[in-house]
Amino acid sequence: MEQTVKIILDGRTYEFPIIEGTEGERAIDIRNLRKETGLITLDPSYPNTGSCKSSITFMDGERGILRYRGIPIEQLAEQSSFTETAYLLINGELPTRQELNRFSVMLNDHSLVHEDMRHFFENFPRRAHPMGILSSMVNALRAFYPELQERTEEEEIDITFTRLLSKVRTMAAMSYKISLGHRVVYPRYDLTYCANFLNMMFDSPVRPYVIDPDLVQALNVFWILHADHEQNCSTAAVRLVGSARVNLYAAISAGICALWGPLHGGANQAVVEMLMEIQAAGGELEPFLARAKDRDDPFRLMGFGHRVYKTYDPRAKIMKRTAHRVLAKQKRRDPLLEIALRLEEVALTDPYFVEHNLYPNVDFYSGIVLRAMGIPLNMFPVMFAIGRLPGWISQWKESVDDPGWRVHRPRQIYVGQGKRDYVPLEQRG
Ligand code: ACO
Repeated sequence: MEQTVKIILDGRTYEFPIIEGTEGERAIDIRNLRKETGLITLDPSYPNTGSCKSSITFMDGERGILRYRGIPIEQLAEQSSFTETAYLLINGELPTRQELNRFSVMLNDHSLVHEDMRHFFENFPRRAHPMGILSSMVNALRAFYPELQERTEEEEIDITFTRLLSKVRTMAAMSYKISLGHRVVYPRYDLTYCANFLNMMFDSPVRPYVIDPDLVQALNVFWILHADHEQNCSTAAVRLVGSARVNLYAAISAGICALWGPLHGGANQAVVEMLMEIQAAGGELEPFLARAKDRDDPFRLMGFGHRVYKTYDPRAKIMKRTAHRVLAKQKRRDPLLEIALRLEEVALTDPYFVEHNLYPNVDFYSGIVLRAMGIPLNMFPVMFAIGRLPGWISQWKESVDDPGWRVHRPRQIYVGQGKRDYVPLEQRG
């Protein structure tokens, strides 16, 4: 029998159905709440609000579970590649060999960036943050690649997905090279997605880049772990902006802007900056922990805490292992990893962090992995953005394919002034 929730208001009873997801998550379906009762719900920052039904990613914050299309993140990180995972997220199933080959060929075919776009890049100030550059360039892609009438809608969407996945990676490497004043390195047909990126970032005429399969593997893992995370801030931004039926480039550009913030995708950069600060201050942890616990101090332990995970983020576990693995292969130590390990140990036994359920999130160790690859600090959020693209694309696709798709438009409770008359300027005190 269908379960319902009853609301009693002014002596009348209203019933609302409880709906259940495949993993037993339950929600009150309040779609008709306002129509029937005149009430709305108030849920600032949405911790209690489900904005959609989705069959892409499942996460359980209490048990530390993350699955893409049903497949545990641990299995994907161990056995899959980023391109295969992107295909899975966007299409719902793992590709056959033939499908994967076709997808890889398409990614290669679309990897070049219009030469005129280079002028854009070259005119950004040198100190501009790469996330600002990336969001502008992604938005500009629509101008360079307008919709073509001779293509079906499906072909157009397919090409747009591939173009985004492929070109954003090329543009990211391009912006890095231009920021150094170096010659841009073009994508190579013979290299895989991740190897190509590393080569475009680090190859140079004076020092040819030697591709290290361990780093390629680490990059695959890094991007797989970031590929989707259900209705997080940037994905919600993509869905919201997309609901106004803007083109996909504009919606993704909005997602990049949301991801830029230090409470979201900018956290990987902020973690390393924090670890460097601790190192520069002599490595003592206590002053930083004290600041993080002080309510009057805006400082937070970056890379700790999560809106949904109230236990160890499963991605952080894999990232920690990857950091150890990469550094061991490189036979080097990173003092920041040692500080991070000590910080984690102390925080996990500190009553404040225990009581607040604050555990390391994906960003806590990801910066160490990126440093080992040679990625510069200000490119860290860009690395996150490239990884999150398949998630944004698949979530956008799911929302536009939904027959009940409507423009997103929350309501509010107005608490401002009551009606009052306009006072002409000369009569104001
Ligand atoms: N350090 C110290 N205290 C913290 C931290 C932290 N990192 N995170 C949360 N808290 C405390 C808050 O001060 C608050 O305490 P109070 O209840 O005593 O006032 C309580 O824990 C709840 O915090 P909220 O900010 O309400 O939690 P919310 O779910 O809104 O925020 C967030 C989650 C933004 C991730 C937060 O934990 C944070 O700022 N962490 C640091 C930044 C970070 O690592 N971001 C990456 C997130 S993962 C991702 O985007 C990929």
